[in-house]
Amino acid sequence: MKTTSSRPQSTARSPKTTNGRHNGKGGVHRGPTQPVPQVSSKVSSWLARPKHNLIDGQWVPAASGKTFASPNPADGSVLARVPDGDREDIDRAVKAARKAFERGNWRRMTPSERGQLLWRVGDLLLEHADEFAELESLDNGKPRAVARAADVPLAADLFHYMAGWATKLEGSTIPISVPYAPGARFHAFTLREPVGVVGQIIPWNFPLLMAAWKLGPALATGNCVVLKPAEQTPLSALRLGELLLQAGLPEGVVNVVTGYGETAGAALAAHEDVDKVAFTGSTEVGKLIVRAASGNLKKVSLELGGKSPNIVFQDTTNLEAAIQGAANAIFFNHGQCCCAGSRLLVEKVIFDEVVSGVAQAAKQIKLGPGLAPDTQMGPLVSEEQLNRVTRYLHQGKQDGACYVTGGSRSGEQGYFVQPTVATGVNPRMSIVREEIFGPVVVAEPFTTLEEVIPRVNATPYGLAAGVWTKDIAKAHRVAAELKAGTVWINCYNIFDAALPFGGYKQSGWGREMGHEVLELYTETKAVVVNIS
Ligand code: NAI
Ligand code: MG
Repeated sequence: MKTTSSRPQSTARSPKTTNGRHNGKGGVHRGPTQPVPQVSSKVSSWLARPKHNLIDGQWVPAASGKTFASPNPADGSVLARVPDGDREDIDRAVKAARKAFERGNWRRMTPSERGQLLWRVGDLLLEHADEFAELESLDNGKPRAVARAADVPLAADLFHYMAGWATKLEGSTIPISVPYAPGARFHAFTLREPVGVVGQIIPWNFPLLMAAWKLGPALATGNCVVLKPAEQTPLSALRLGELLLQAGLPEGVVNVVTGYGETAGAALAAHEDVDKVAFTGSTEVGKLIVRAASGNLKKVSLELGGKSPNIVFQDTTNLEAAIQGAANAIFFNHGQCCCAGSRLLVEKVIFDEVVSGVAQAAKQIKLGPGLAPDTQMGPLVSEEQLNRVTRYLHQGKQDGACYVTGGSRSGEQGYFVQPTVATGVNPRMSIVREEIFGPVVVAEPFTTLEEVIPRVNATPYGLAAGVWTKDIAKAHRVAAELKAGTVWINCYNIFDAALPFGGYKQSGWGREMGHEVLELYTETKAVVVNIS
């Protein structure tokens, strides 16, 4: 599944709507009286069952017996209560993972069997795609259609892609000289081995997909895992745990512990018997992870925040595509993307036209609960995120930014924010410098390539960037000079299981997906045989 700038998605321009409230200021909000489709009986009966952690192949409550609620961000209602896992649960899960790694069947499984098992997980996800899309929409707030078109098939594809790697983890034979051993002969080669017990801490913006990005490569390479989903969106990881067992994963190979970051997450990052921790989330917590990991010097990989520029040159082939691409870059997933194109830089002569095009697209986005079929943008994930984003909007206004459209919360129920386009900004403003993680783009004019490159590189982040031009040489030059892990030329938000993703600078350590991710989950062992 590919998300292209031309494919209709959450940011696509909708036909003029007659229902819903058009406030003329960023988005069309669904009227409160309009009925929202019922939750399917399959999902509601799953939600009604008690939720437990997956430890050592068993579903168990938190050691403390405590639970917390996972609310529906569209209306604040409680979807389910999940275990409030803490240090004790993490410790039990790590012990189970260690046992599975050192002594379980997992070690004895052939690479082909491991690959087939992962392939089955991908198949099962596709079989249950409607159910996962609904669950993801309820728990995270994103439109169900988006979850069904993007999150779920991308997660399945990741497992299918990684299944293929299980049989291809090859070392090399290395001719060596050994100057201090004249006349001796050696046969030297390398082995690729799993790192061991891996802790994985994931965020709430793509809950299922982030679980797949983490679990796929860890399992393909033979590791055992303790996964901690985000407290805002724990449900799809628990359902995925059920599918993993159904696919035949031996007990203890994947353990899922729901809990808060400060308790369960911190315990996992610091655990002395965890060999590696993989984290996706805020740069601030990424730094805490690094510190926590220093106790036993566990390996660390990080996928962190961003403030990604999207640069539109006046010679772009198709201005309408660039405008839609810029809208998609920021409004996809309500701007809750680490790679969101949150800084829009437009060559001066076309600045007004592009800004008004993006603002027009923003105004037409249909806001509503994720389950409503006409919803193009759902609520933000939580009240905390709503407050964070509206705080930025308020600060931006105080600093003198102008909101061409949007600029505040939308409606009084649920955590909706108006799709927002800001102009009149300068690099000192927090809305220009910091990750907002909401549907807010700051637009700035530029005059030349030489001027714009240092401007966009002057950020502690370096995750992604977009460039719109028909000049091939210019496109390549910009791609070469941008300090970013991904550069999209005449497109945005193109992801694939085969394409490495990760950040320069404070956007992270390491690359996920593609064959590069295998480096993060394997140790290389050099073996030397004296054959003299
Ligand atoms: P966060 O970084 O606090 O949470 C991400 C994950 O880390 C969650 O599973 C959480 O439980 C865990 N966590 C939190 N504190 C921890 C700790 N001390 N030790 C171990 N694990 C911990 O992100 P949050 O608070 O949900 O969102 C805040 C901001 O972070 C957002 O506004 C956004 O800017 C950024 N963010 C970036 C994401 C990305 O994809 N790079 C995803 C989510 C948030
Ligand atoms: Mg946090």
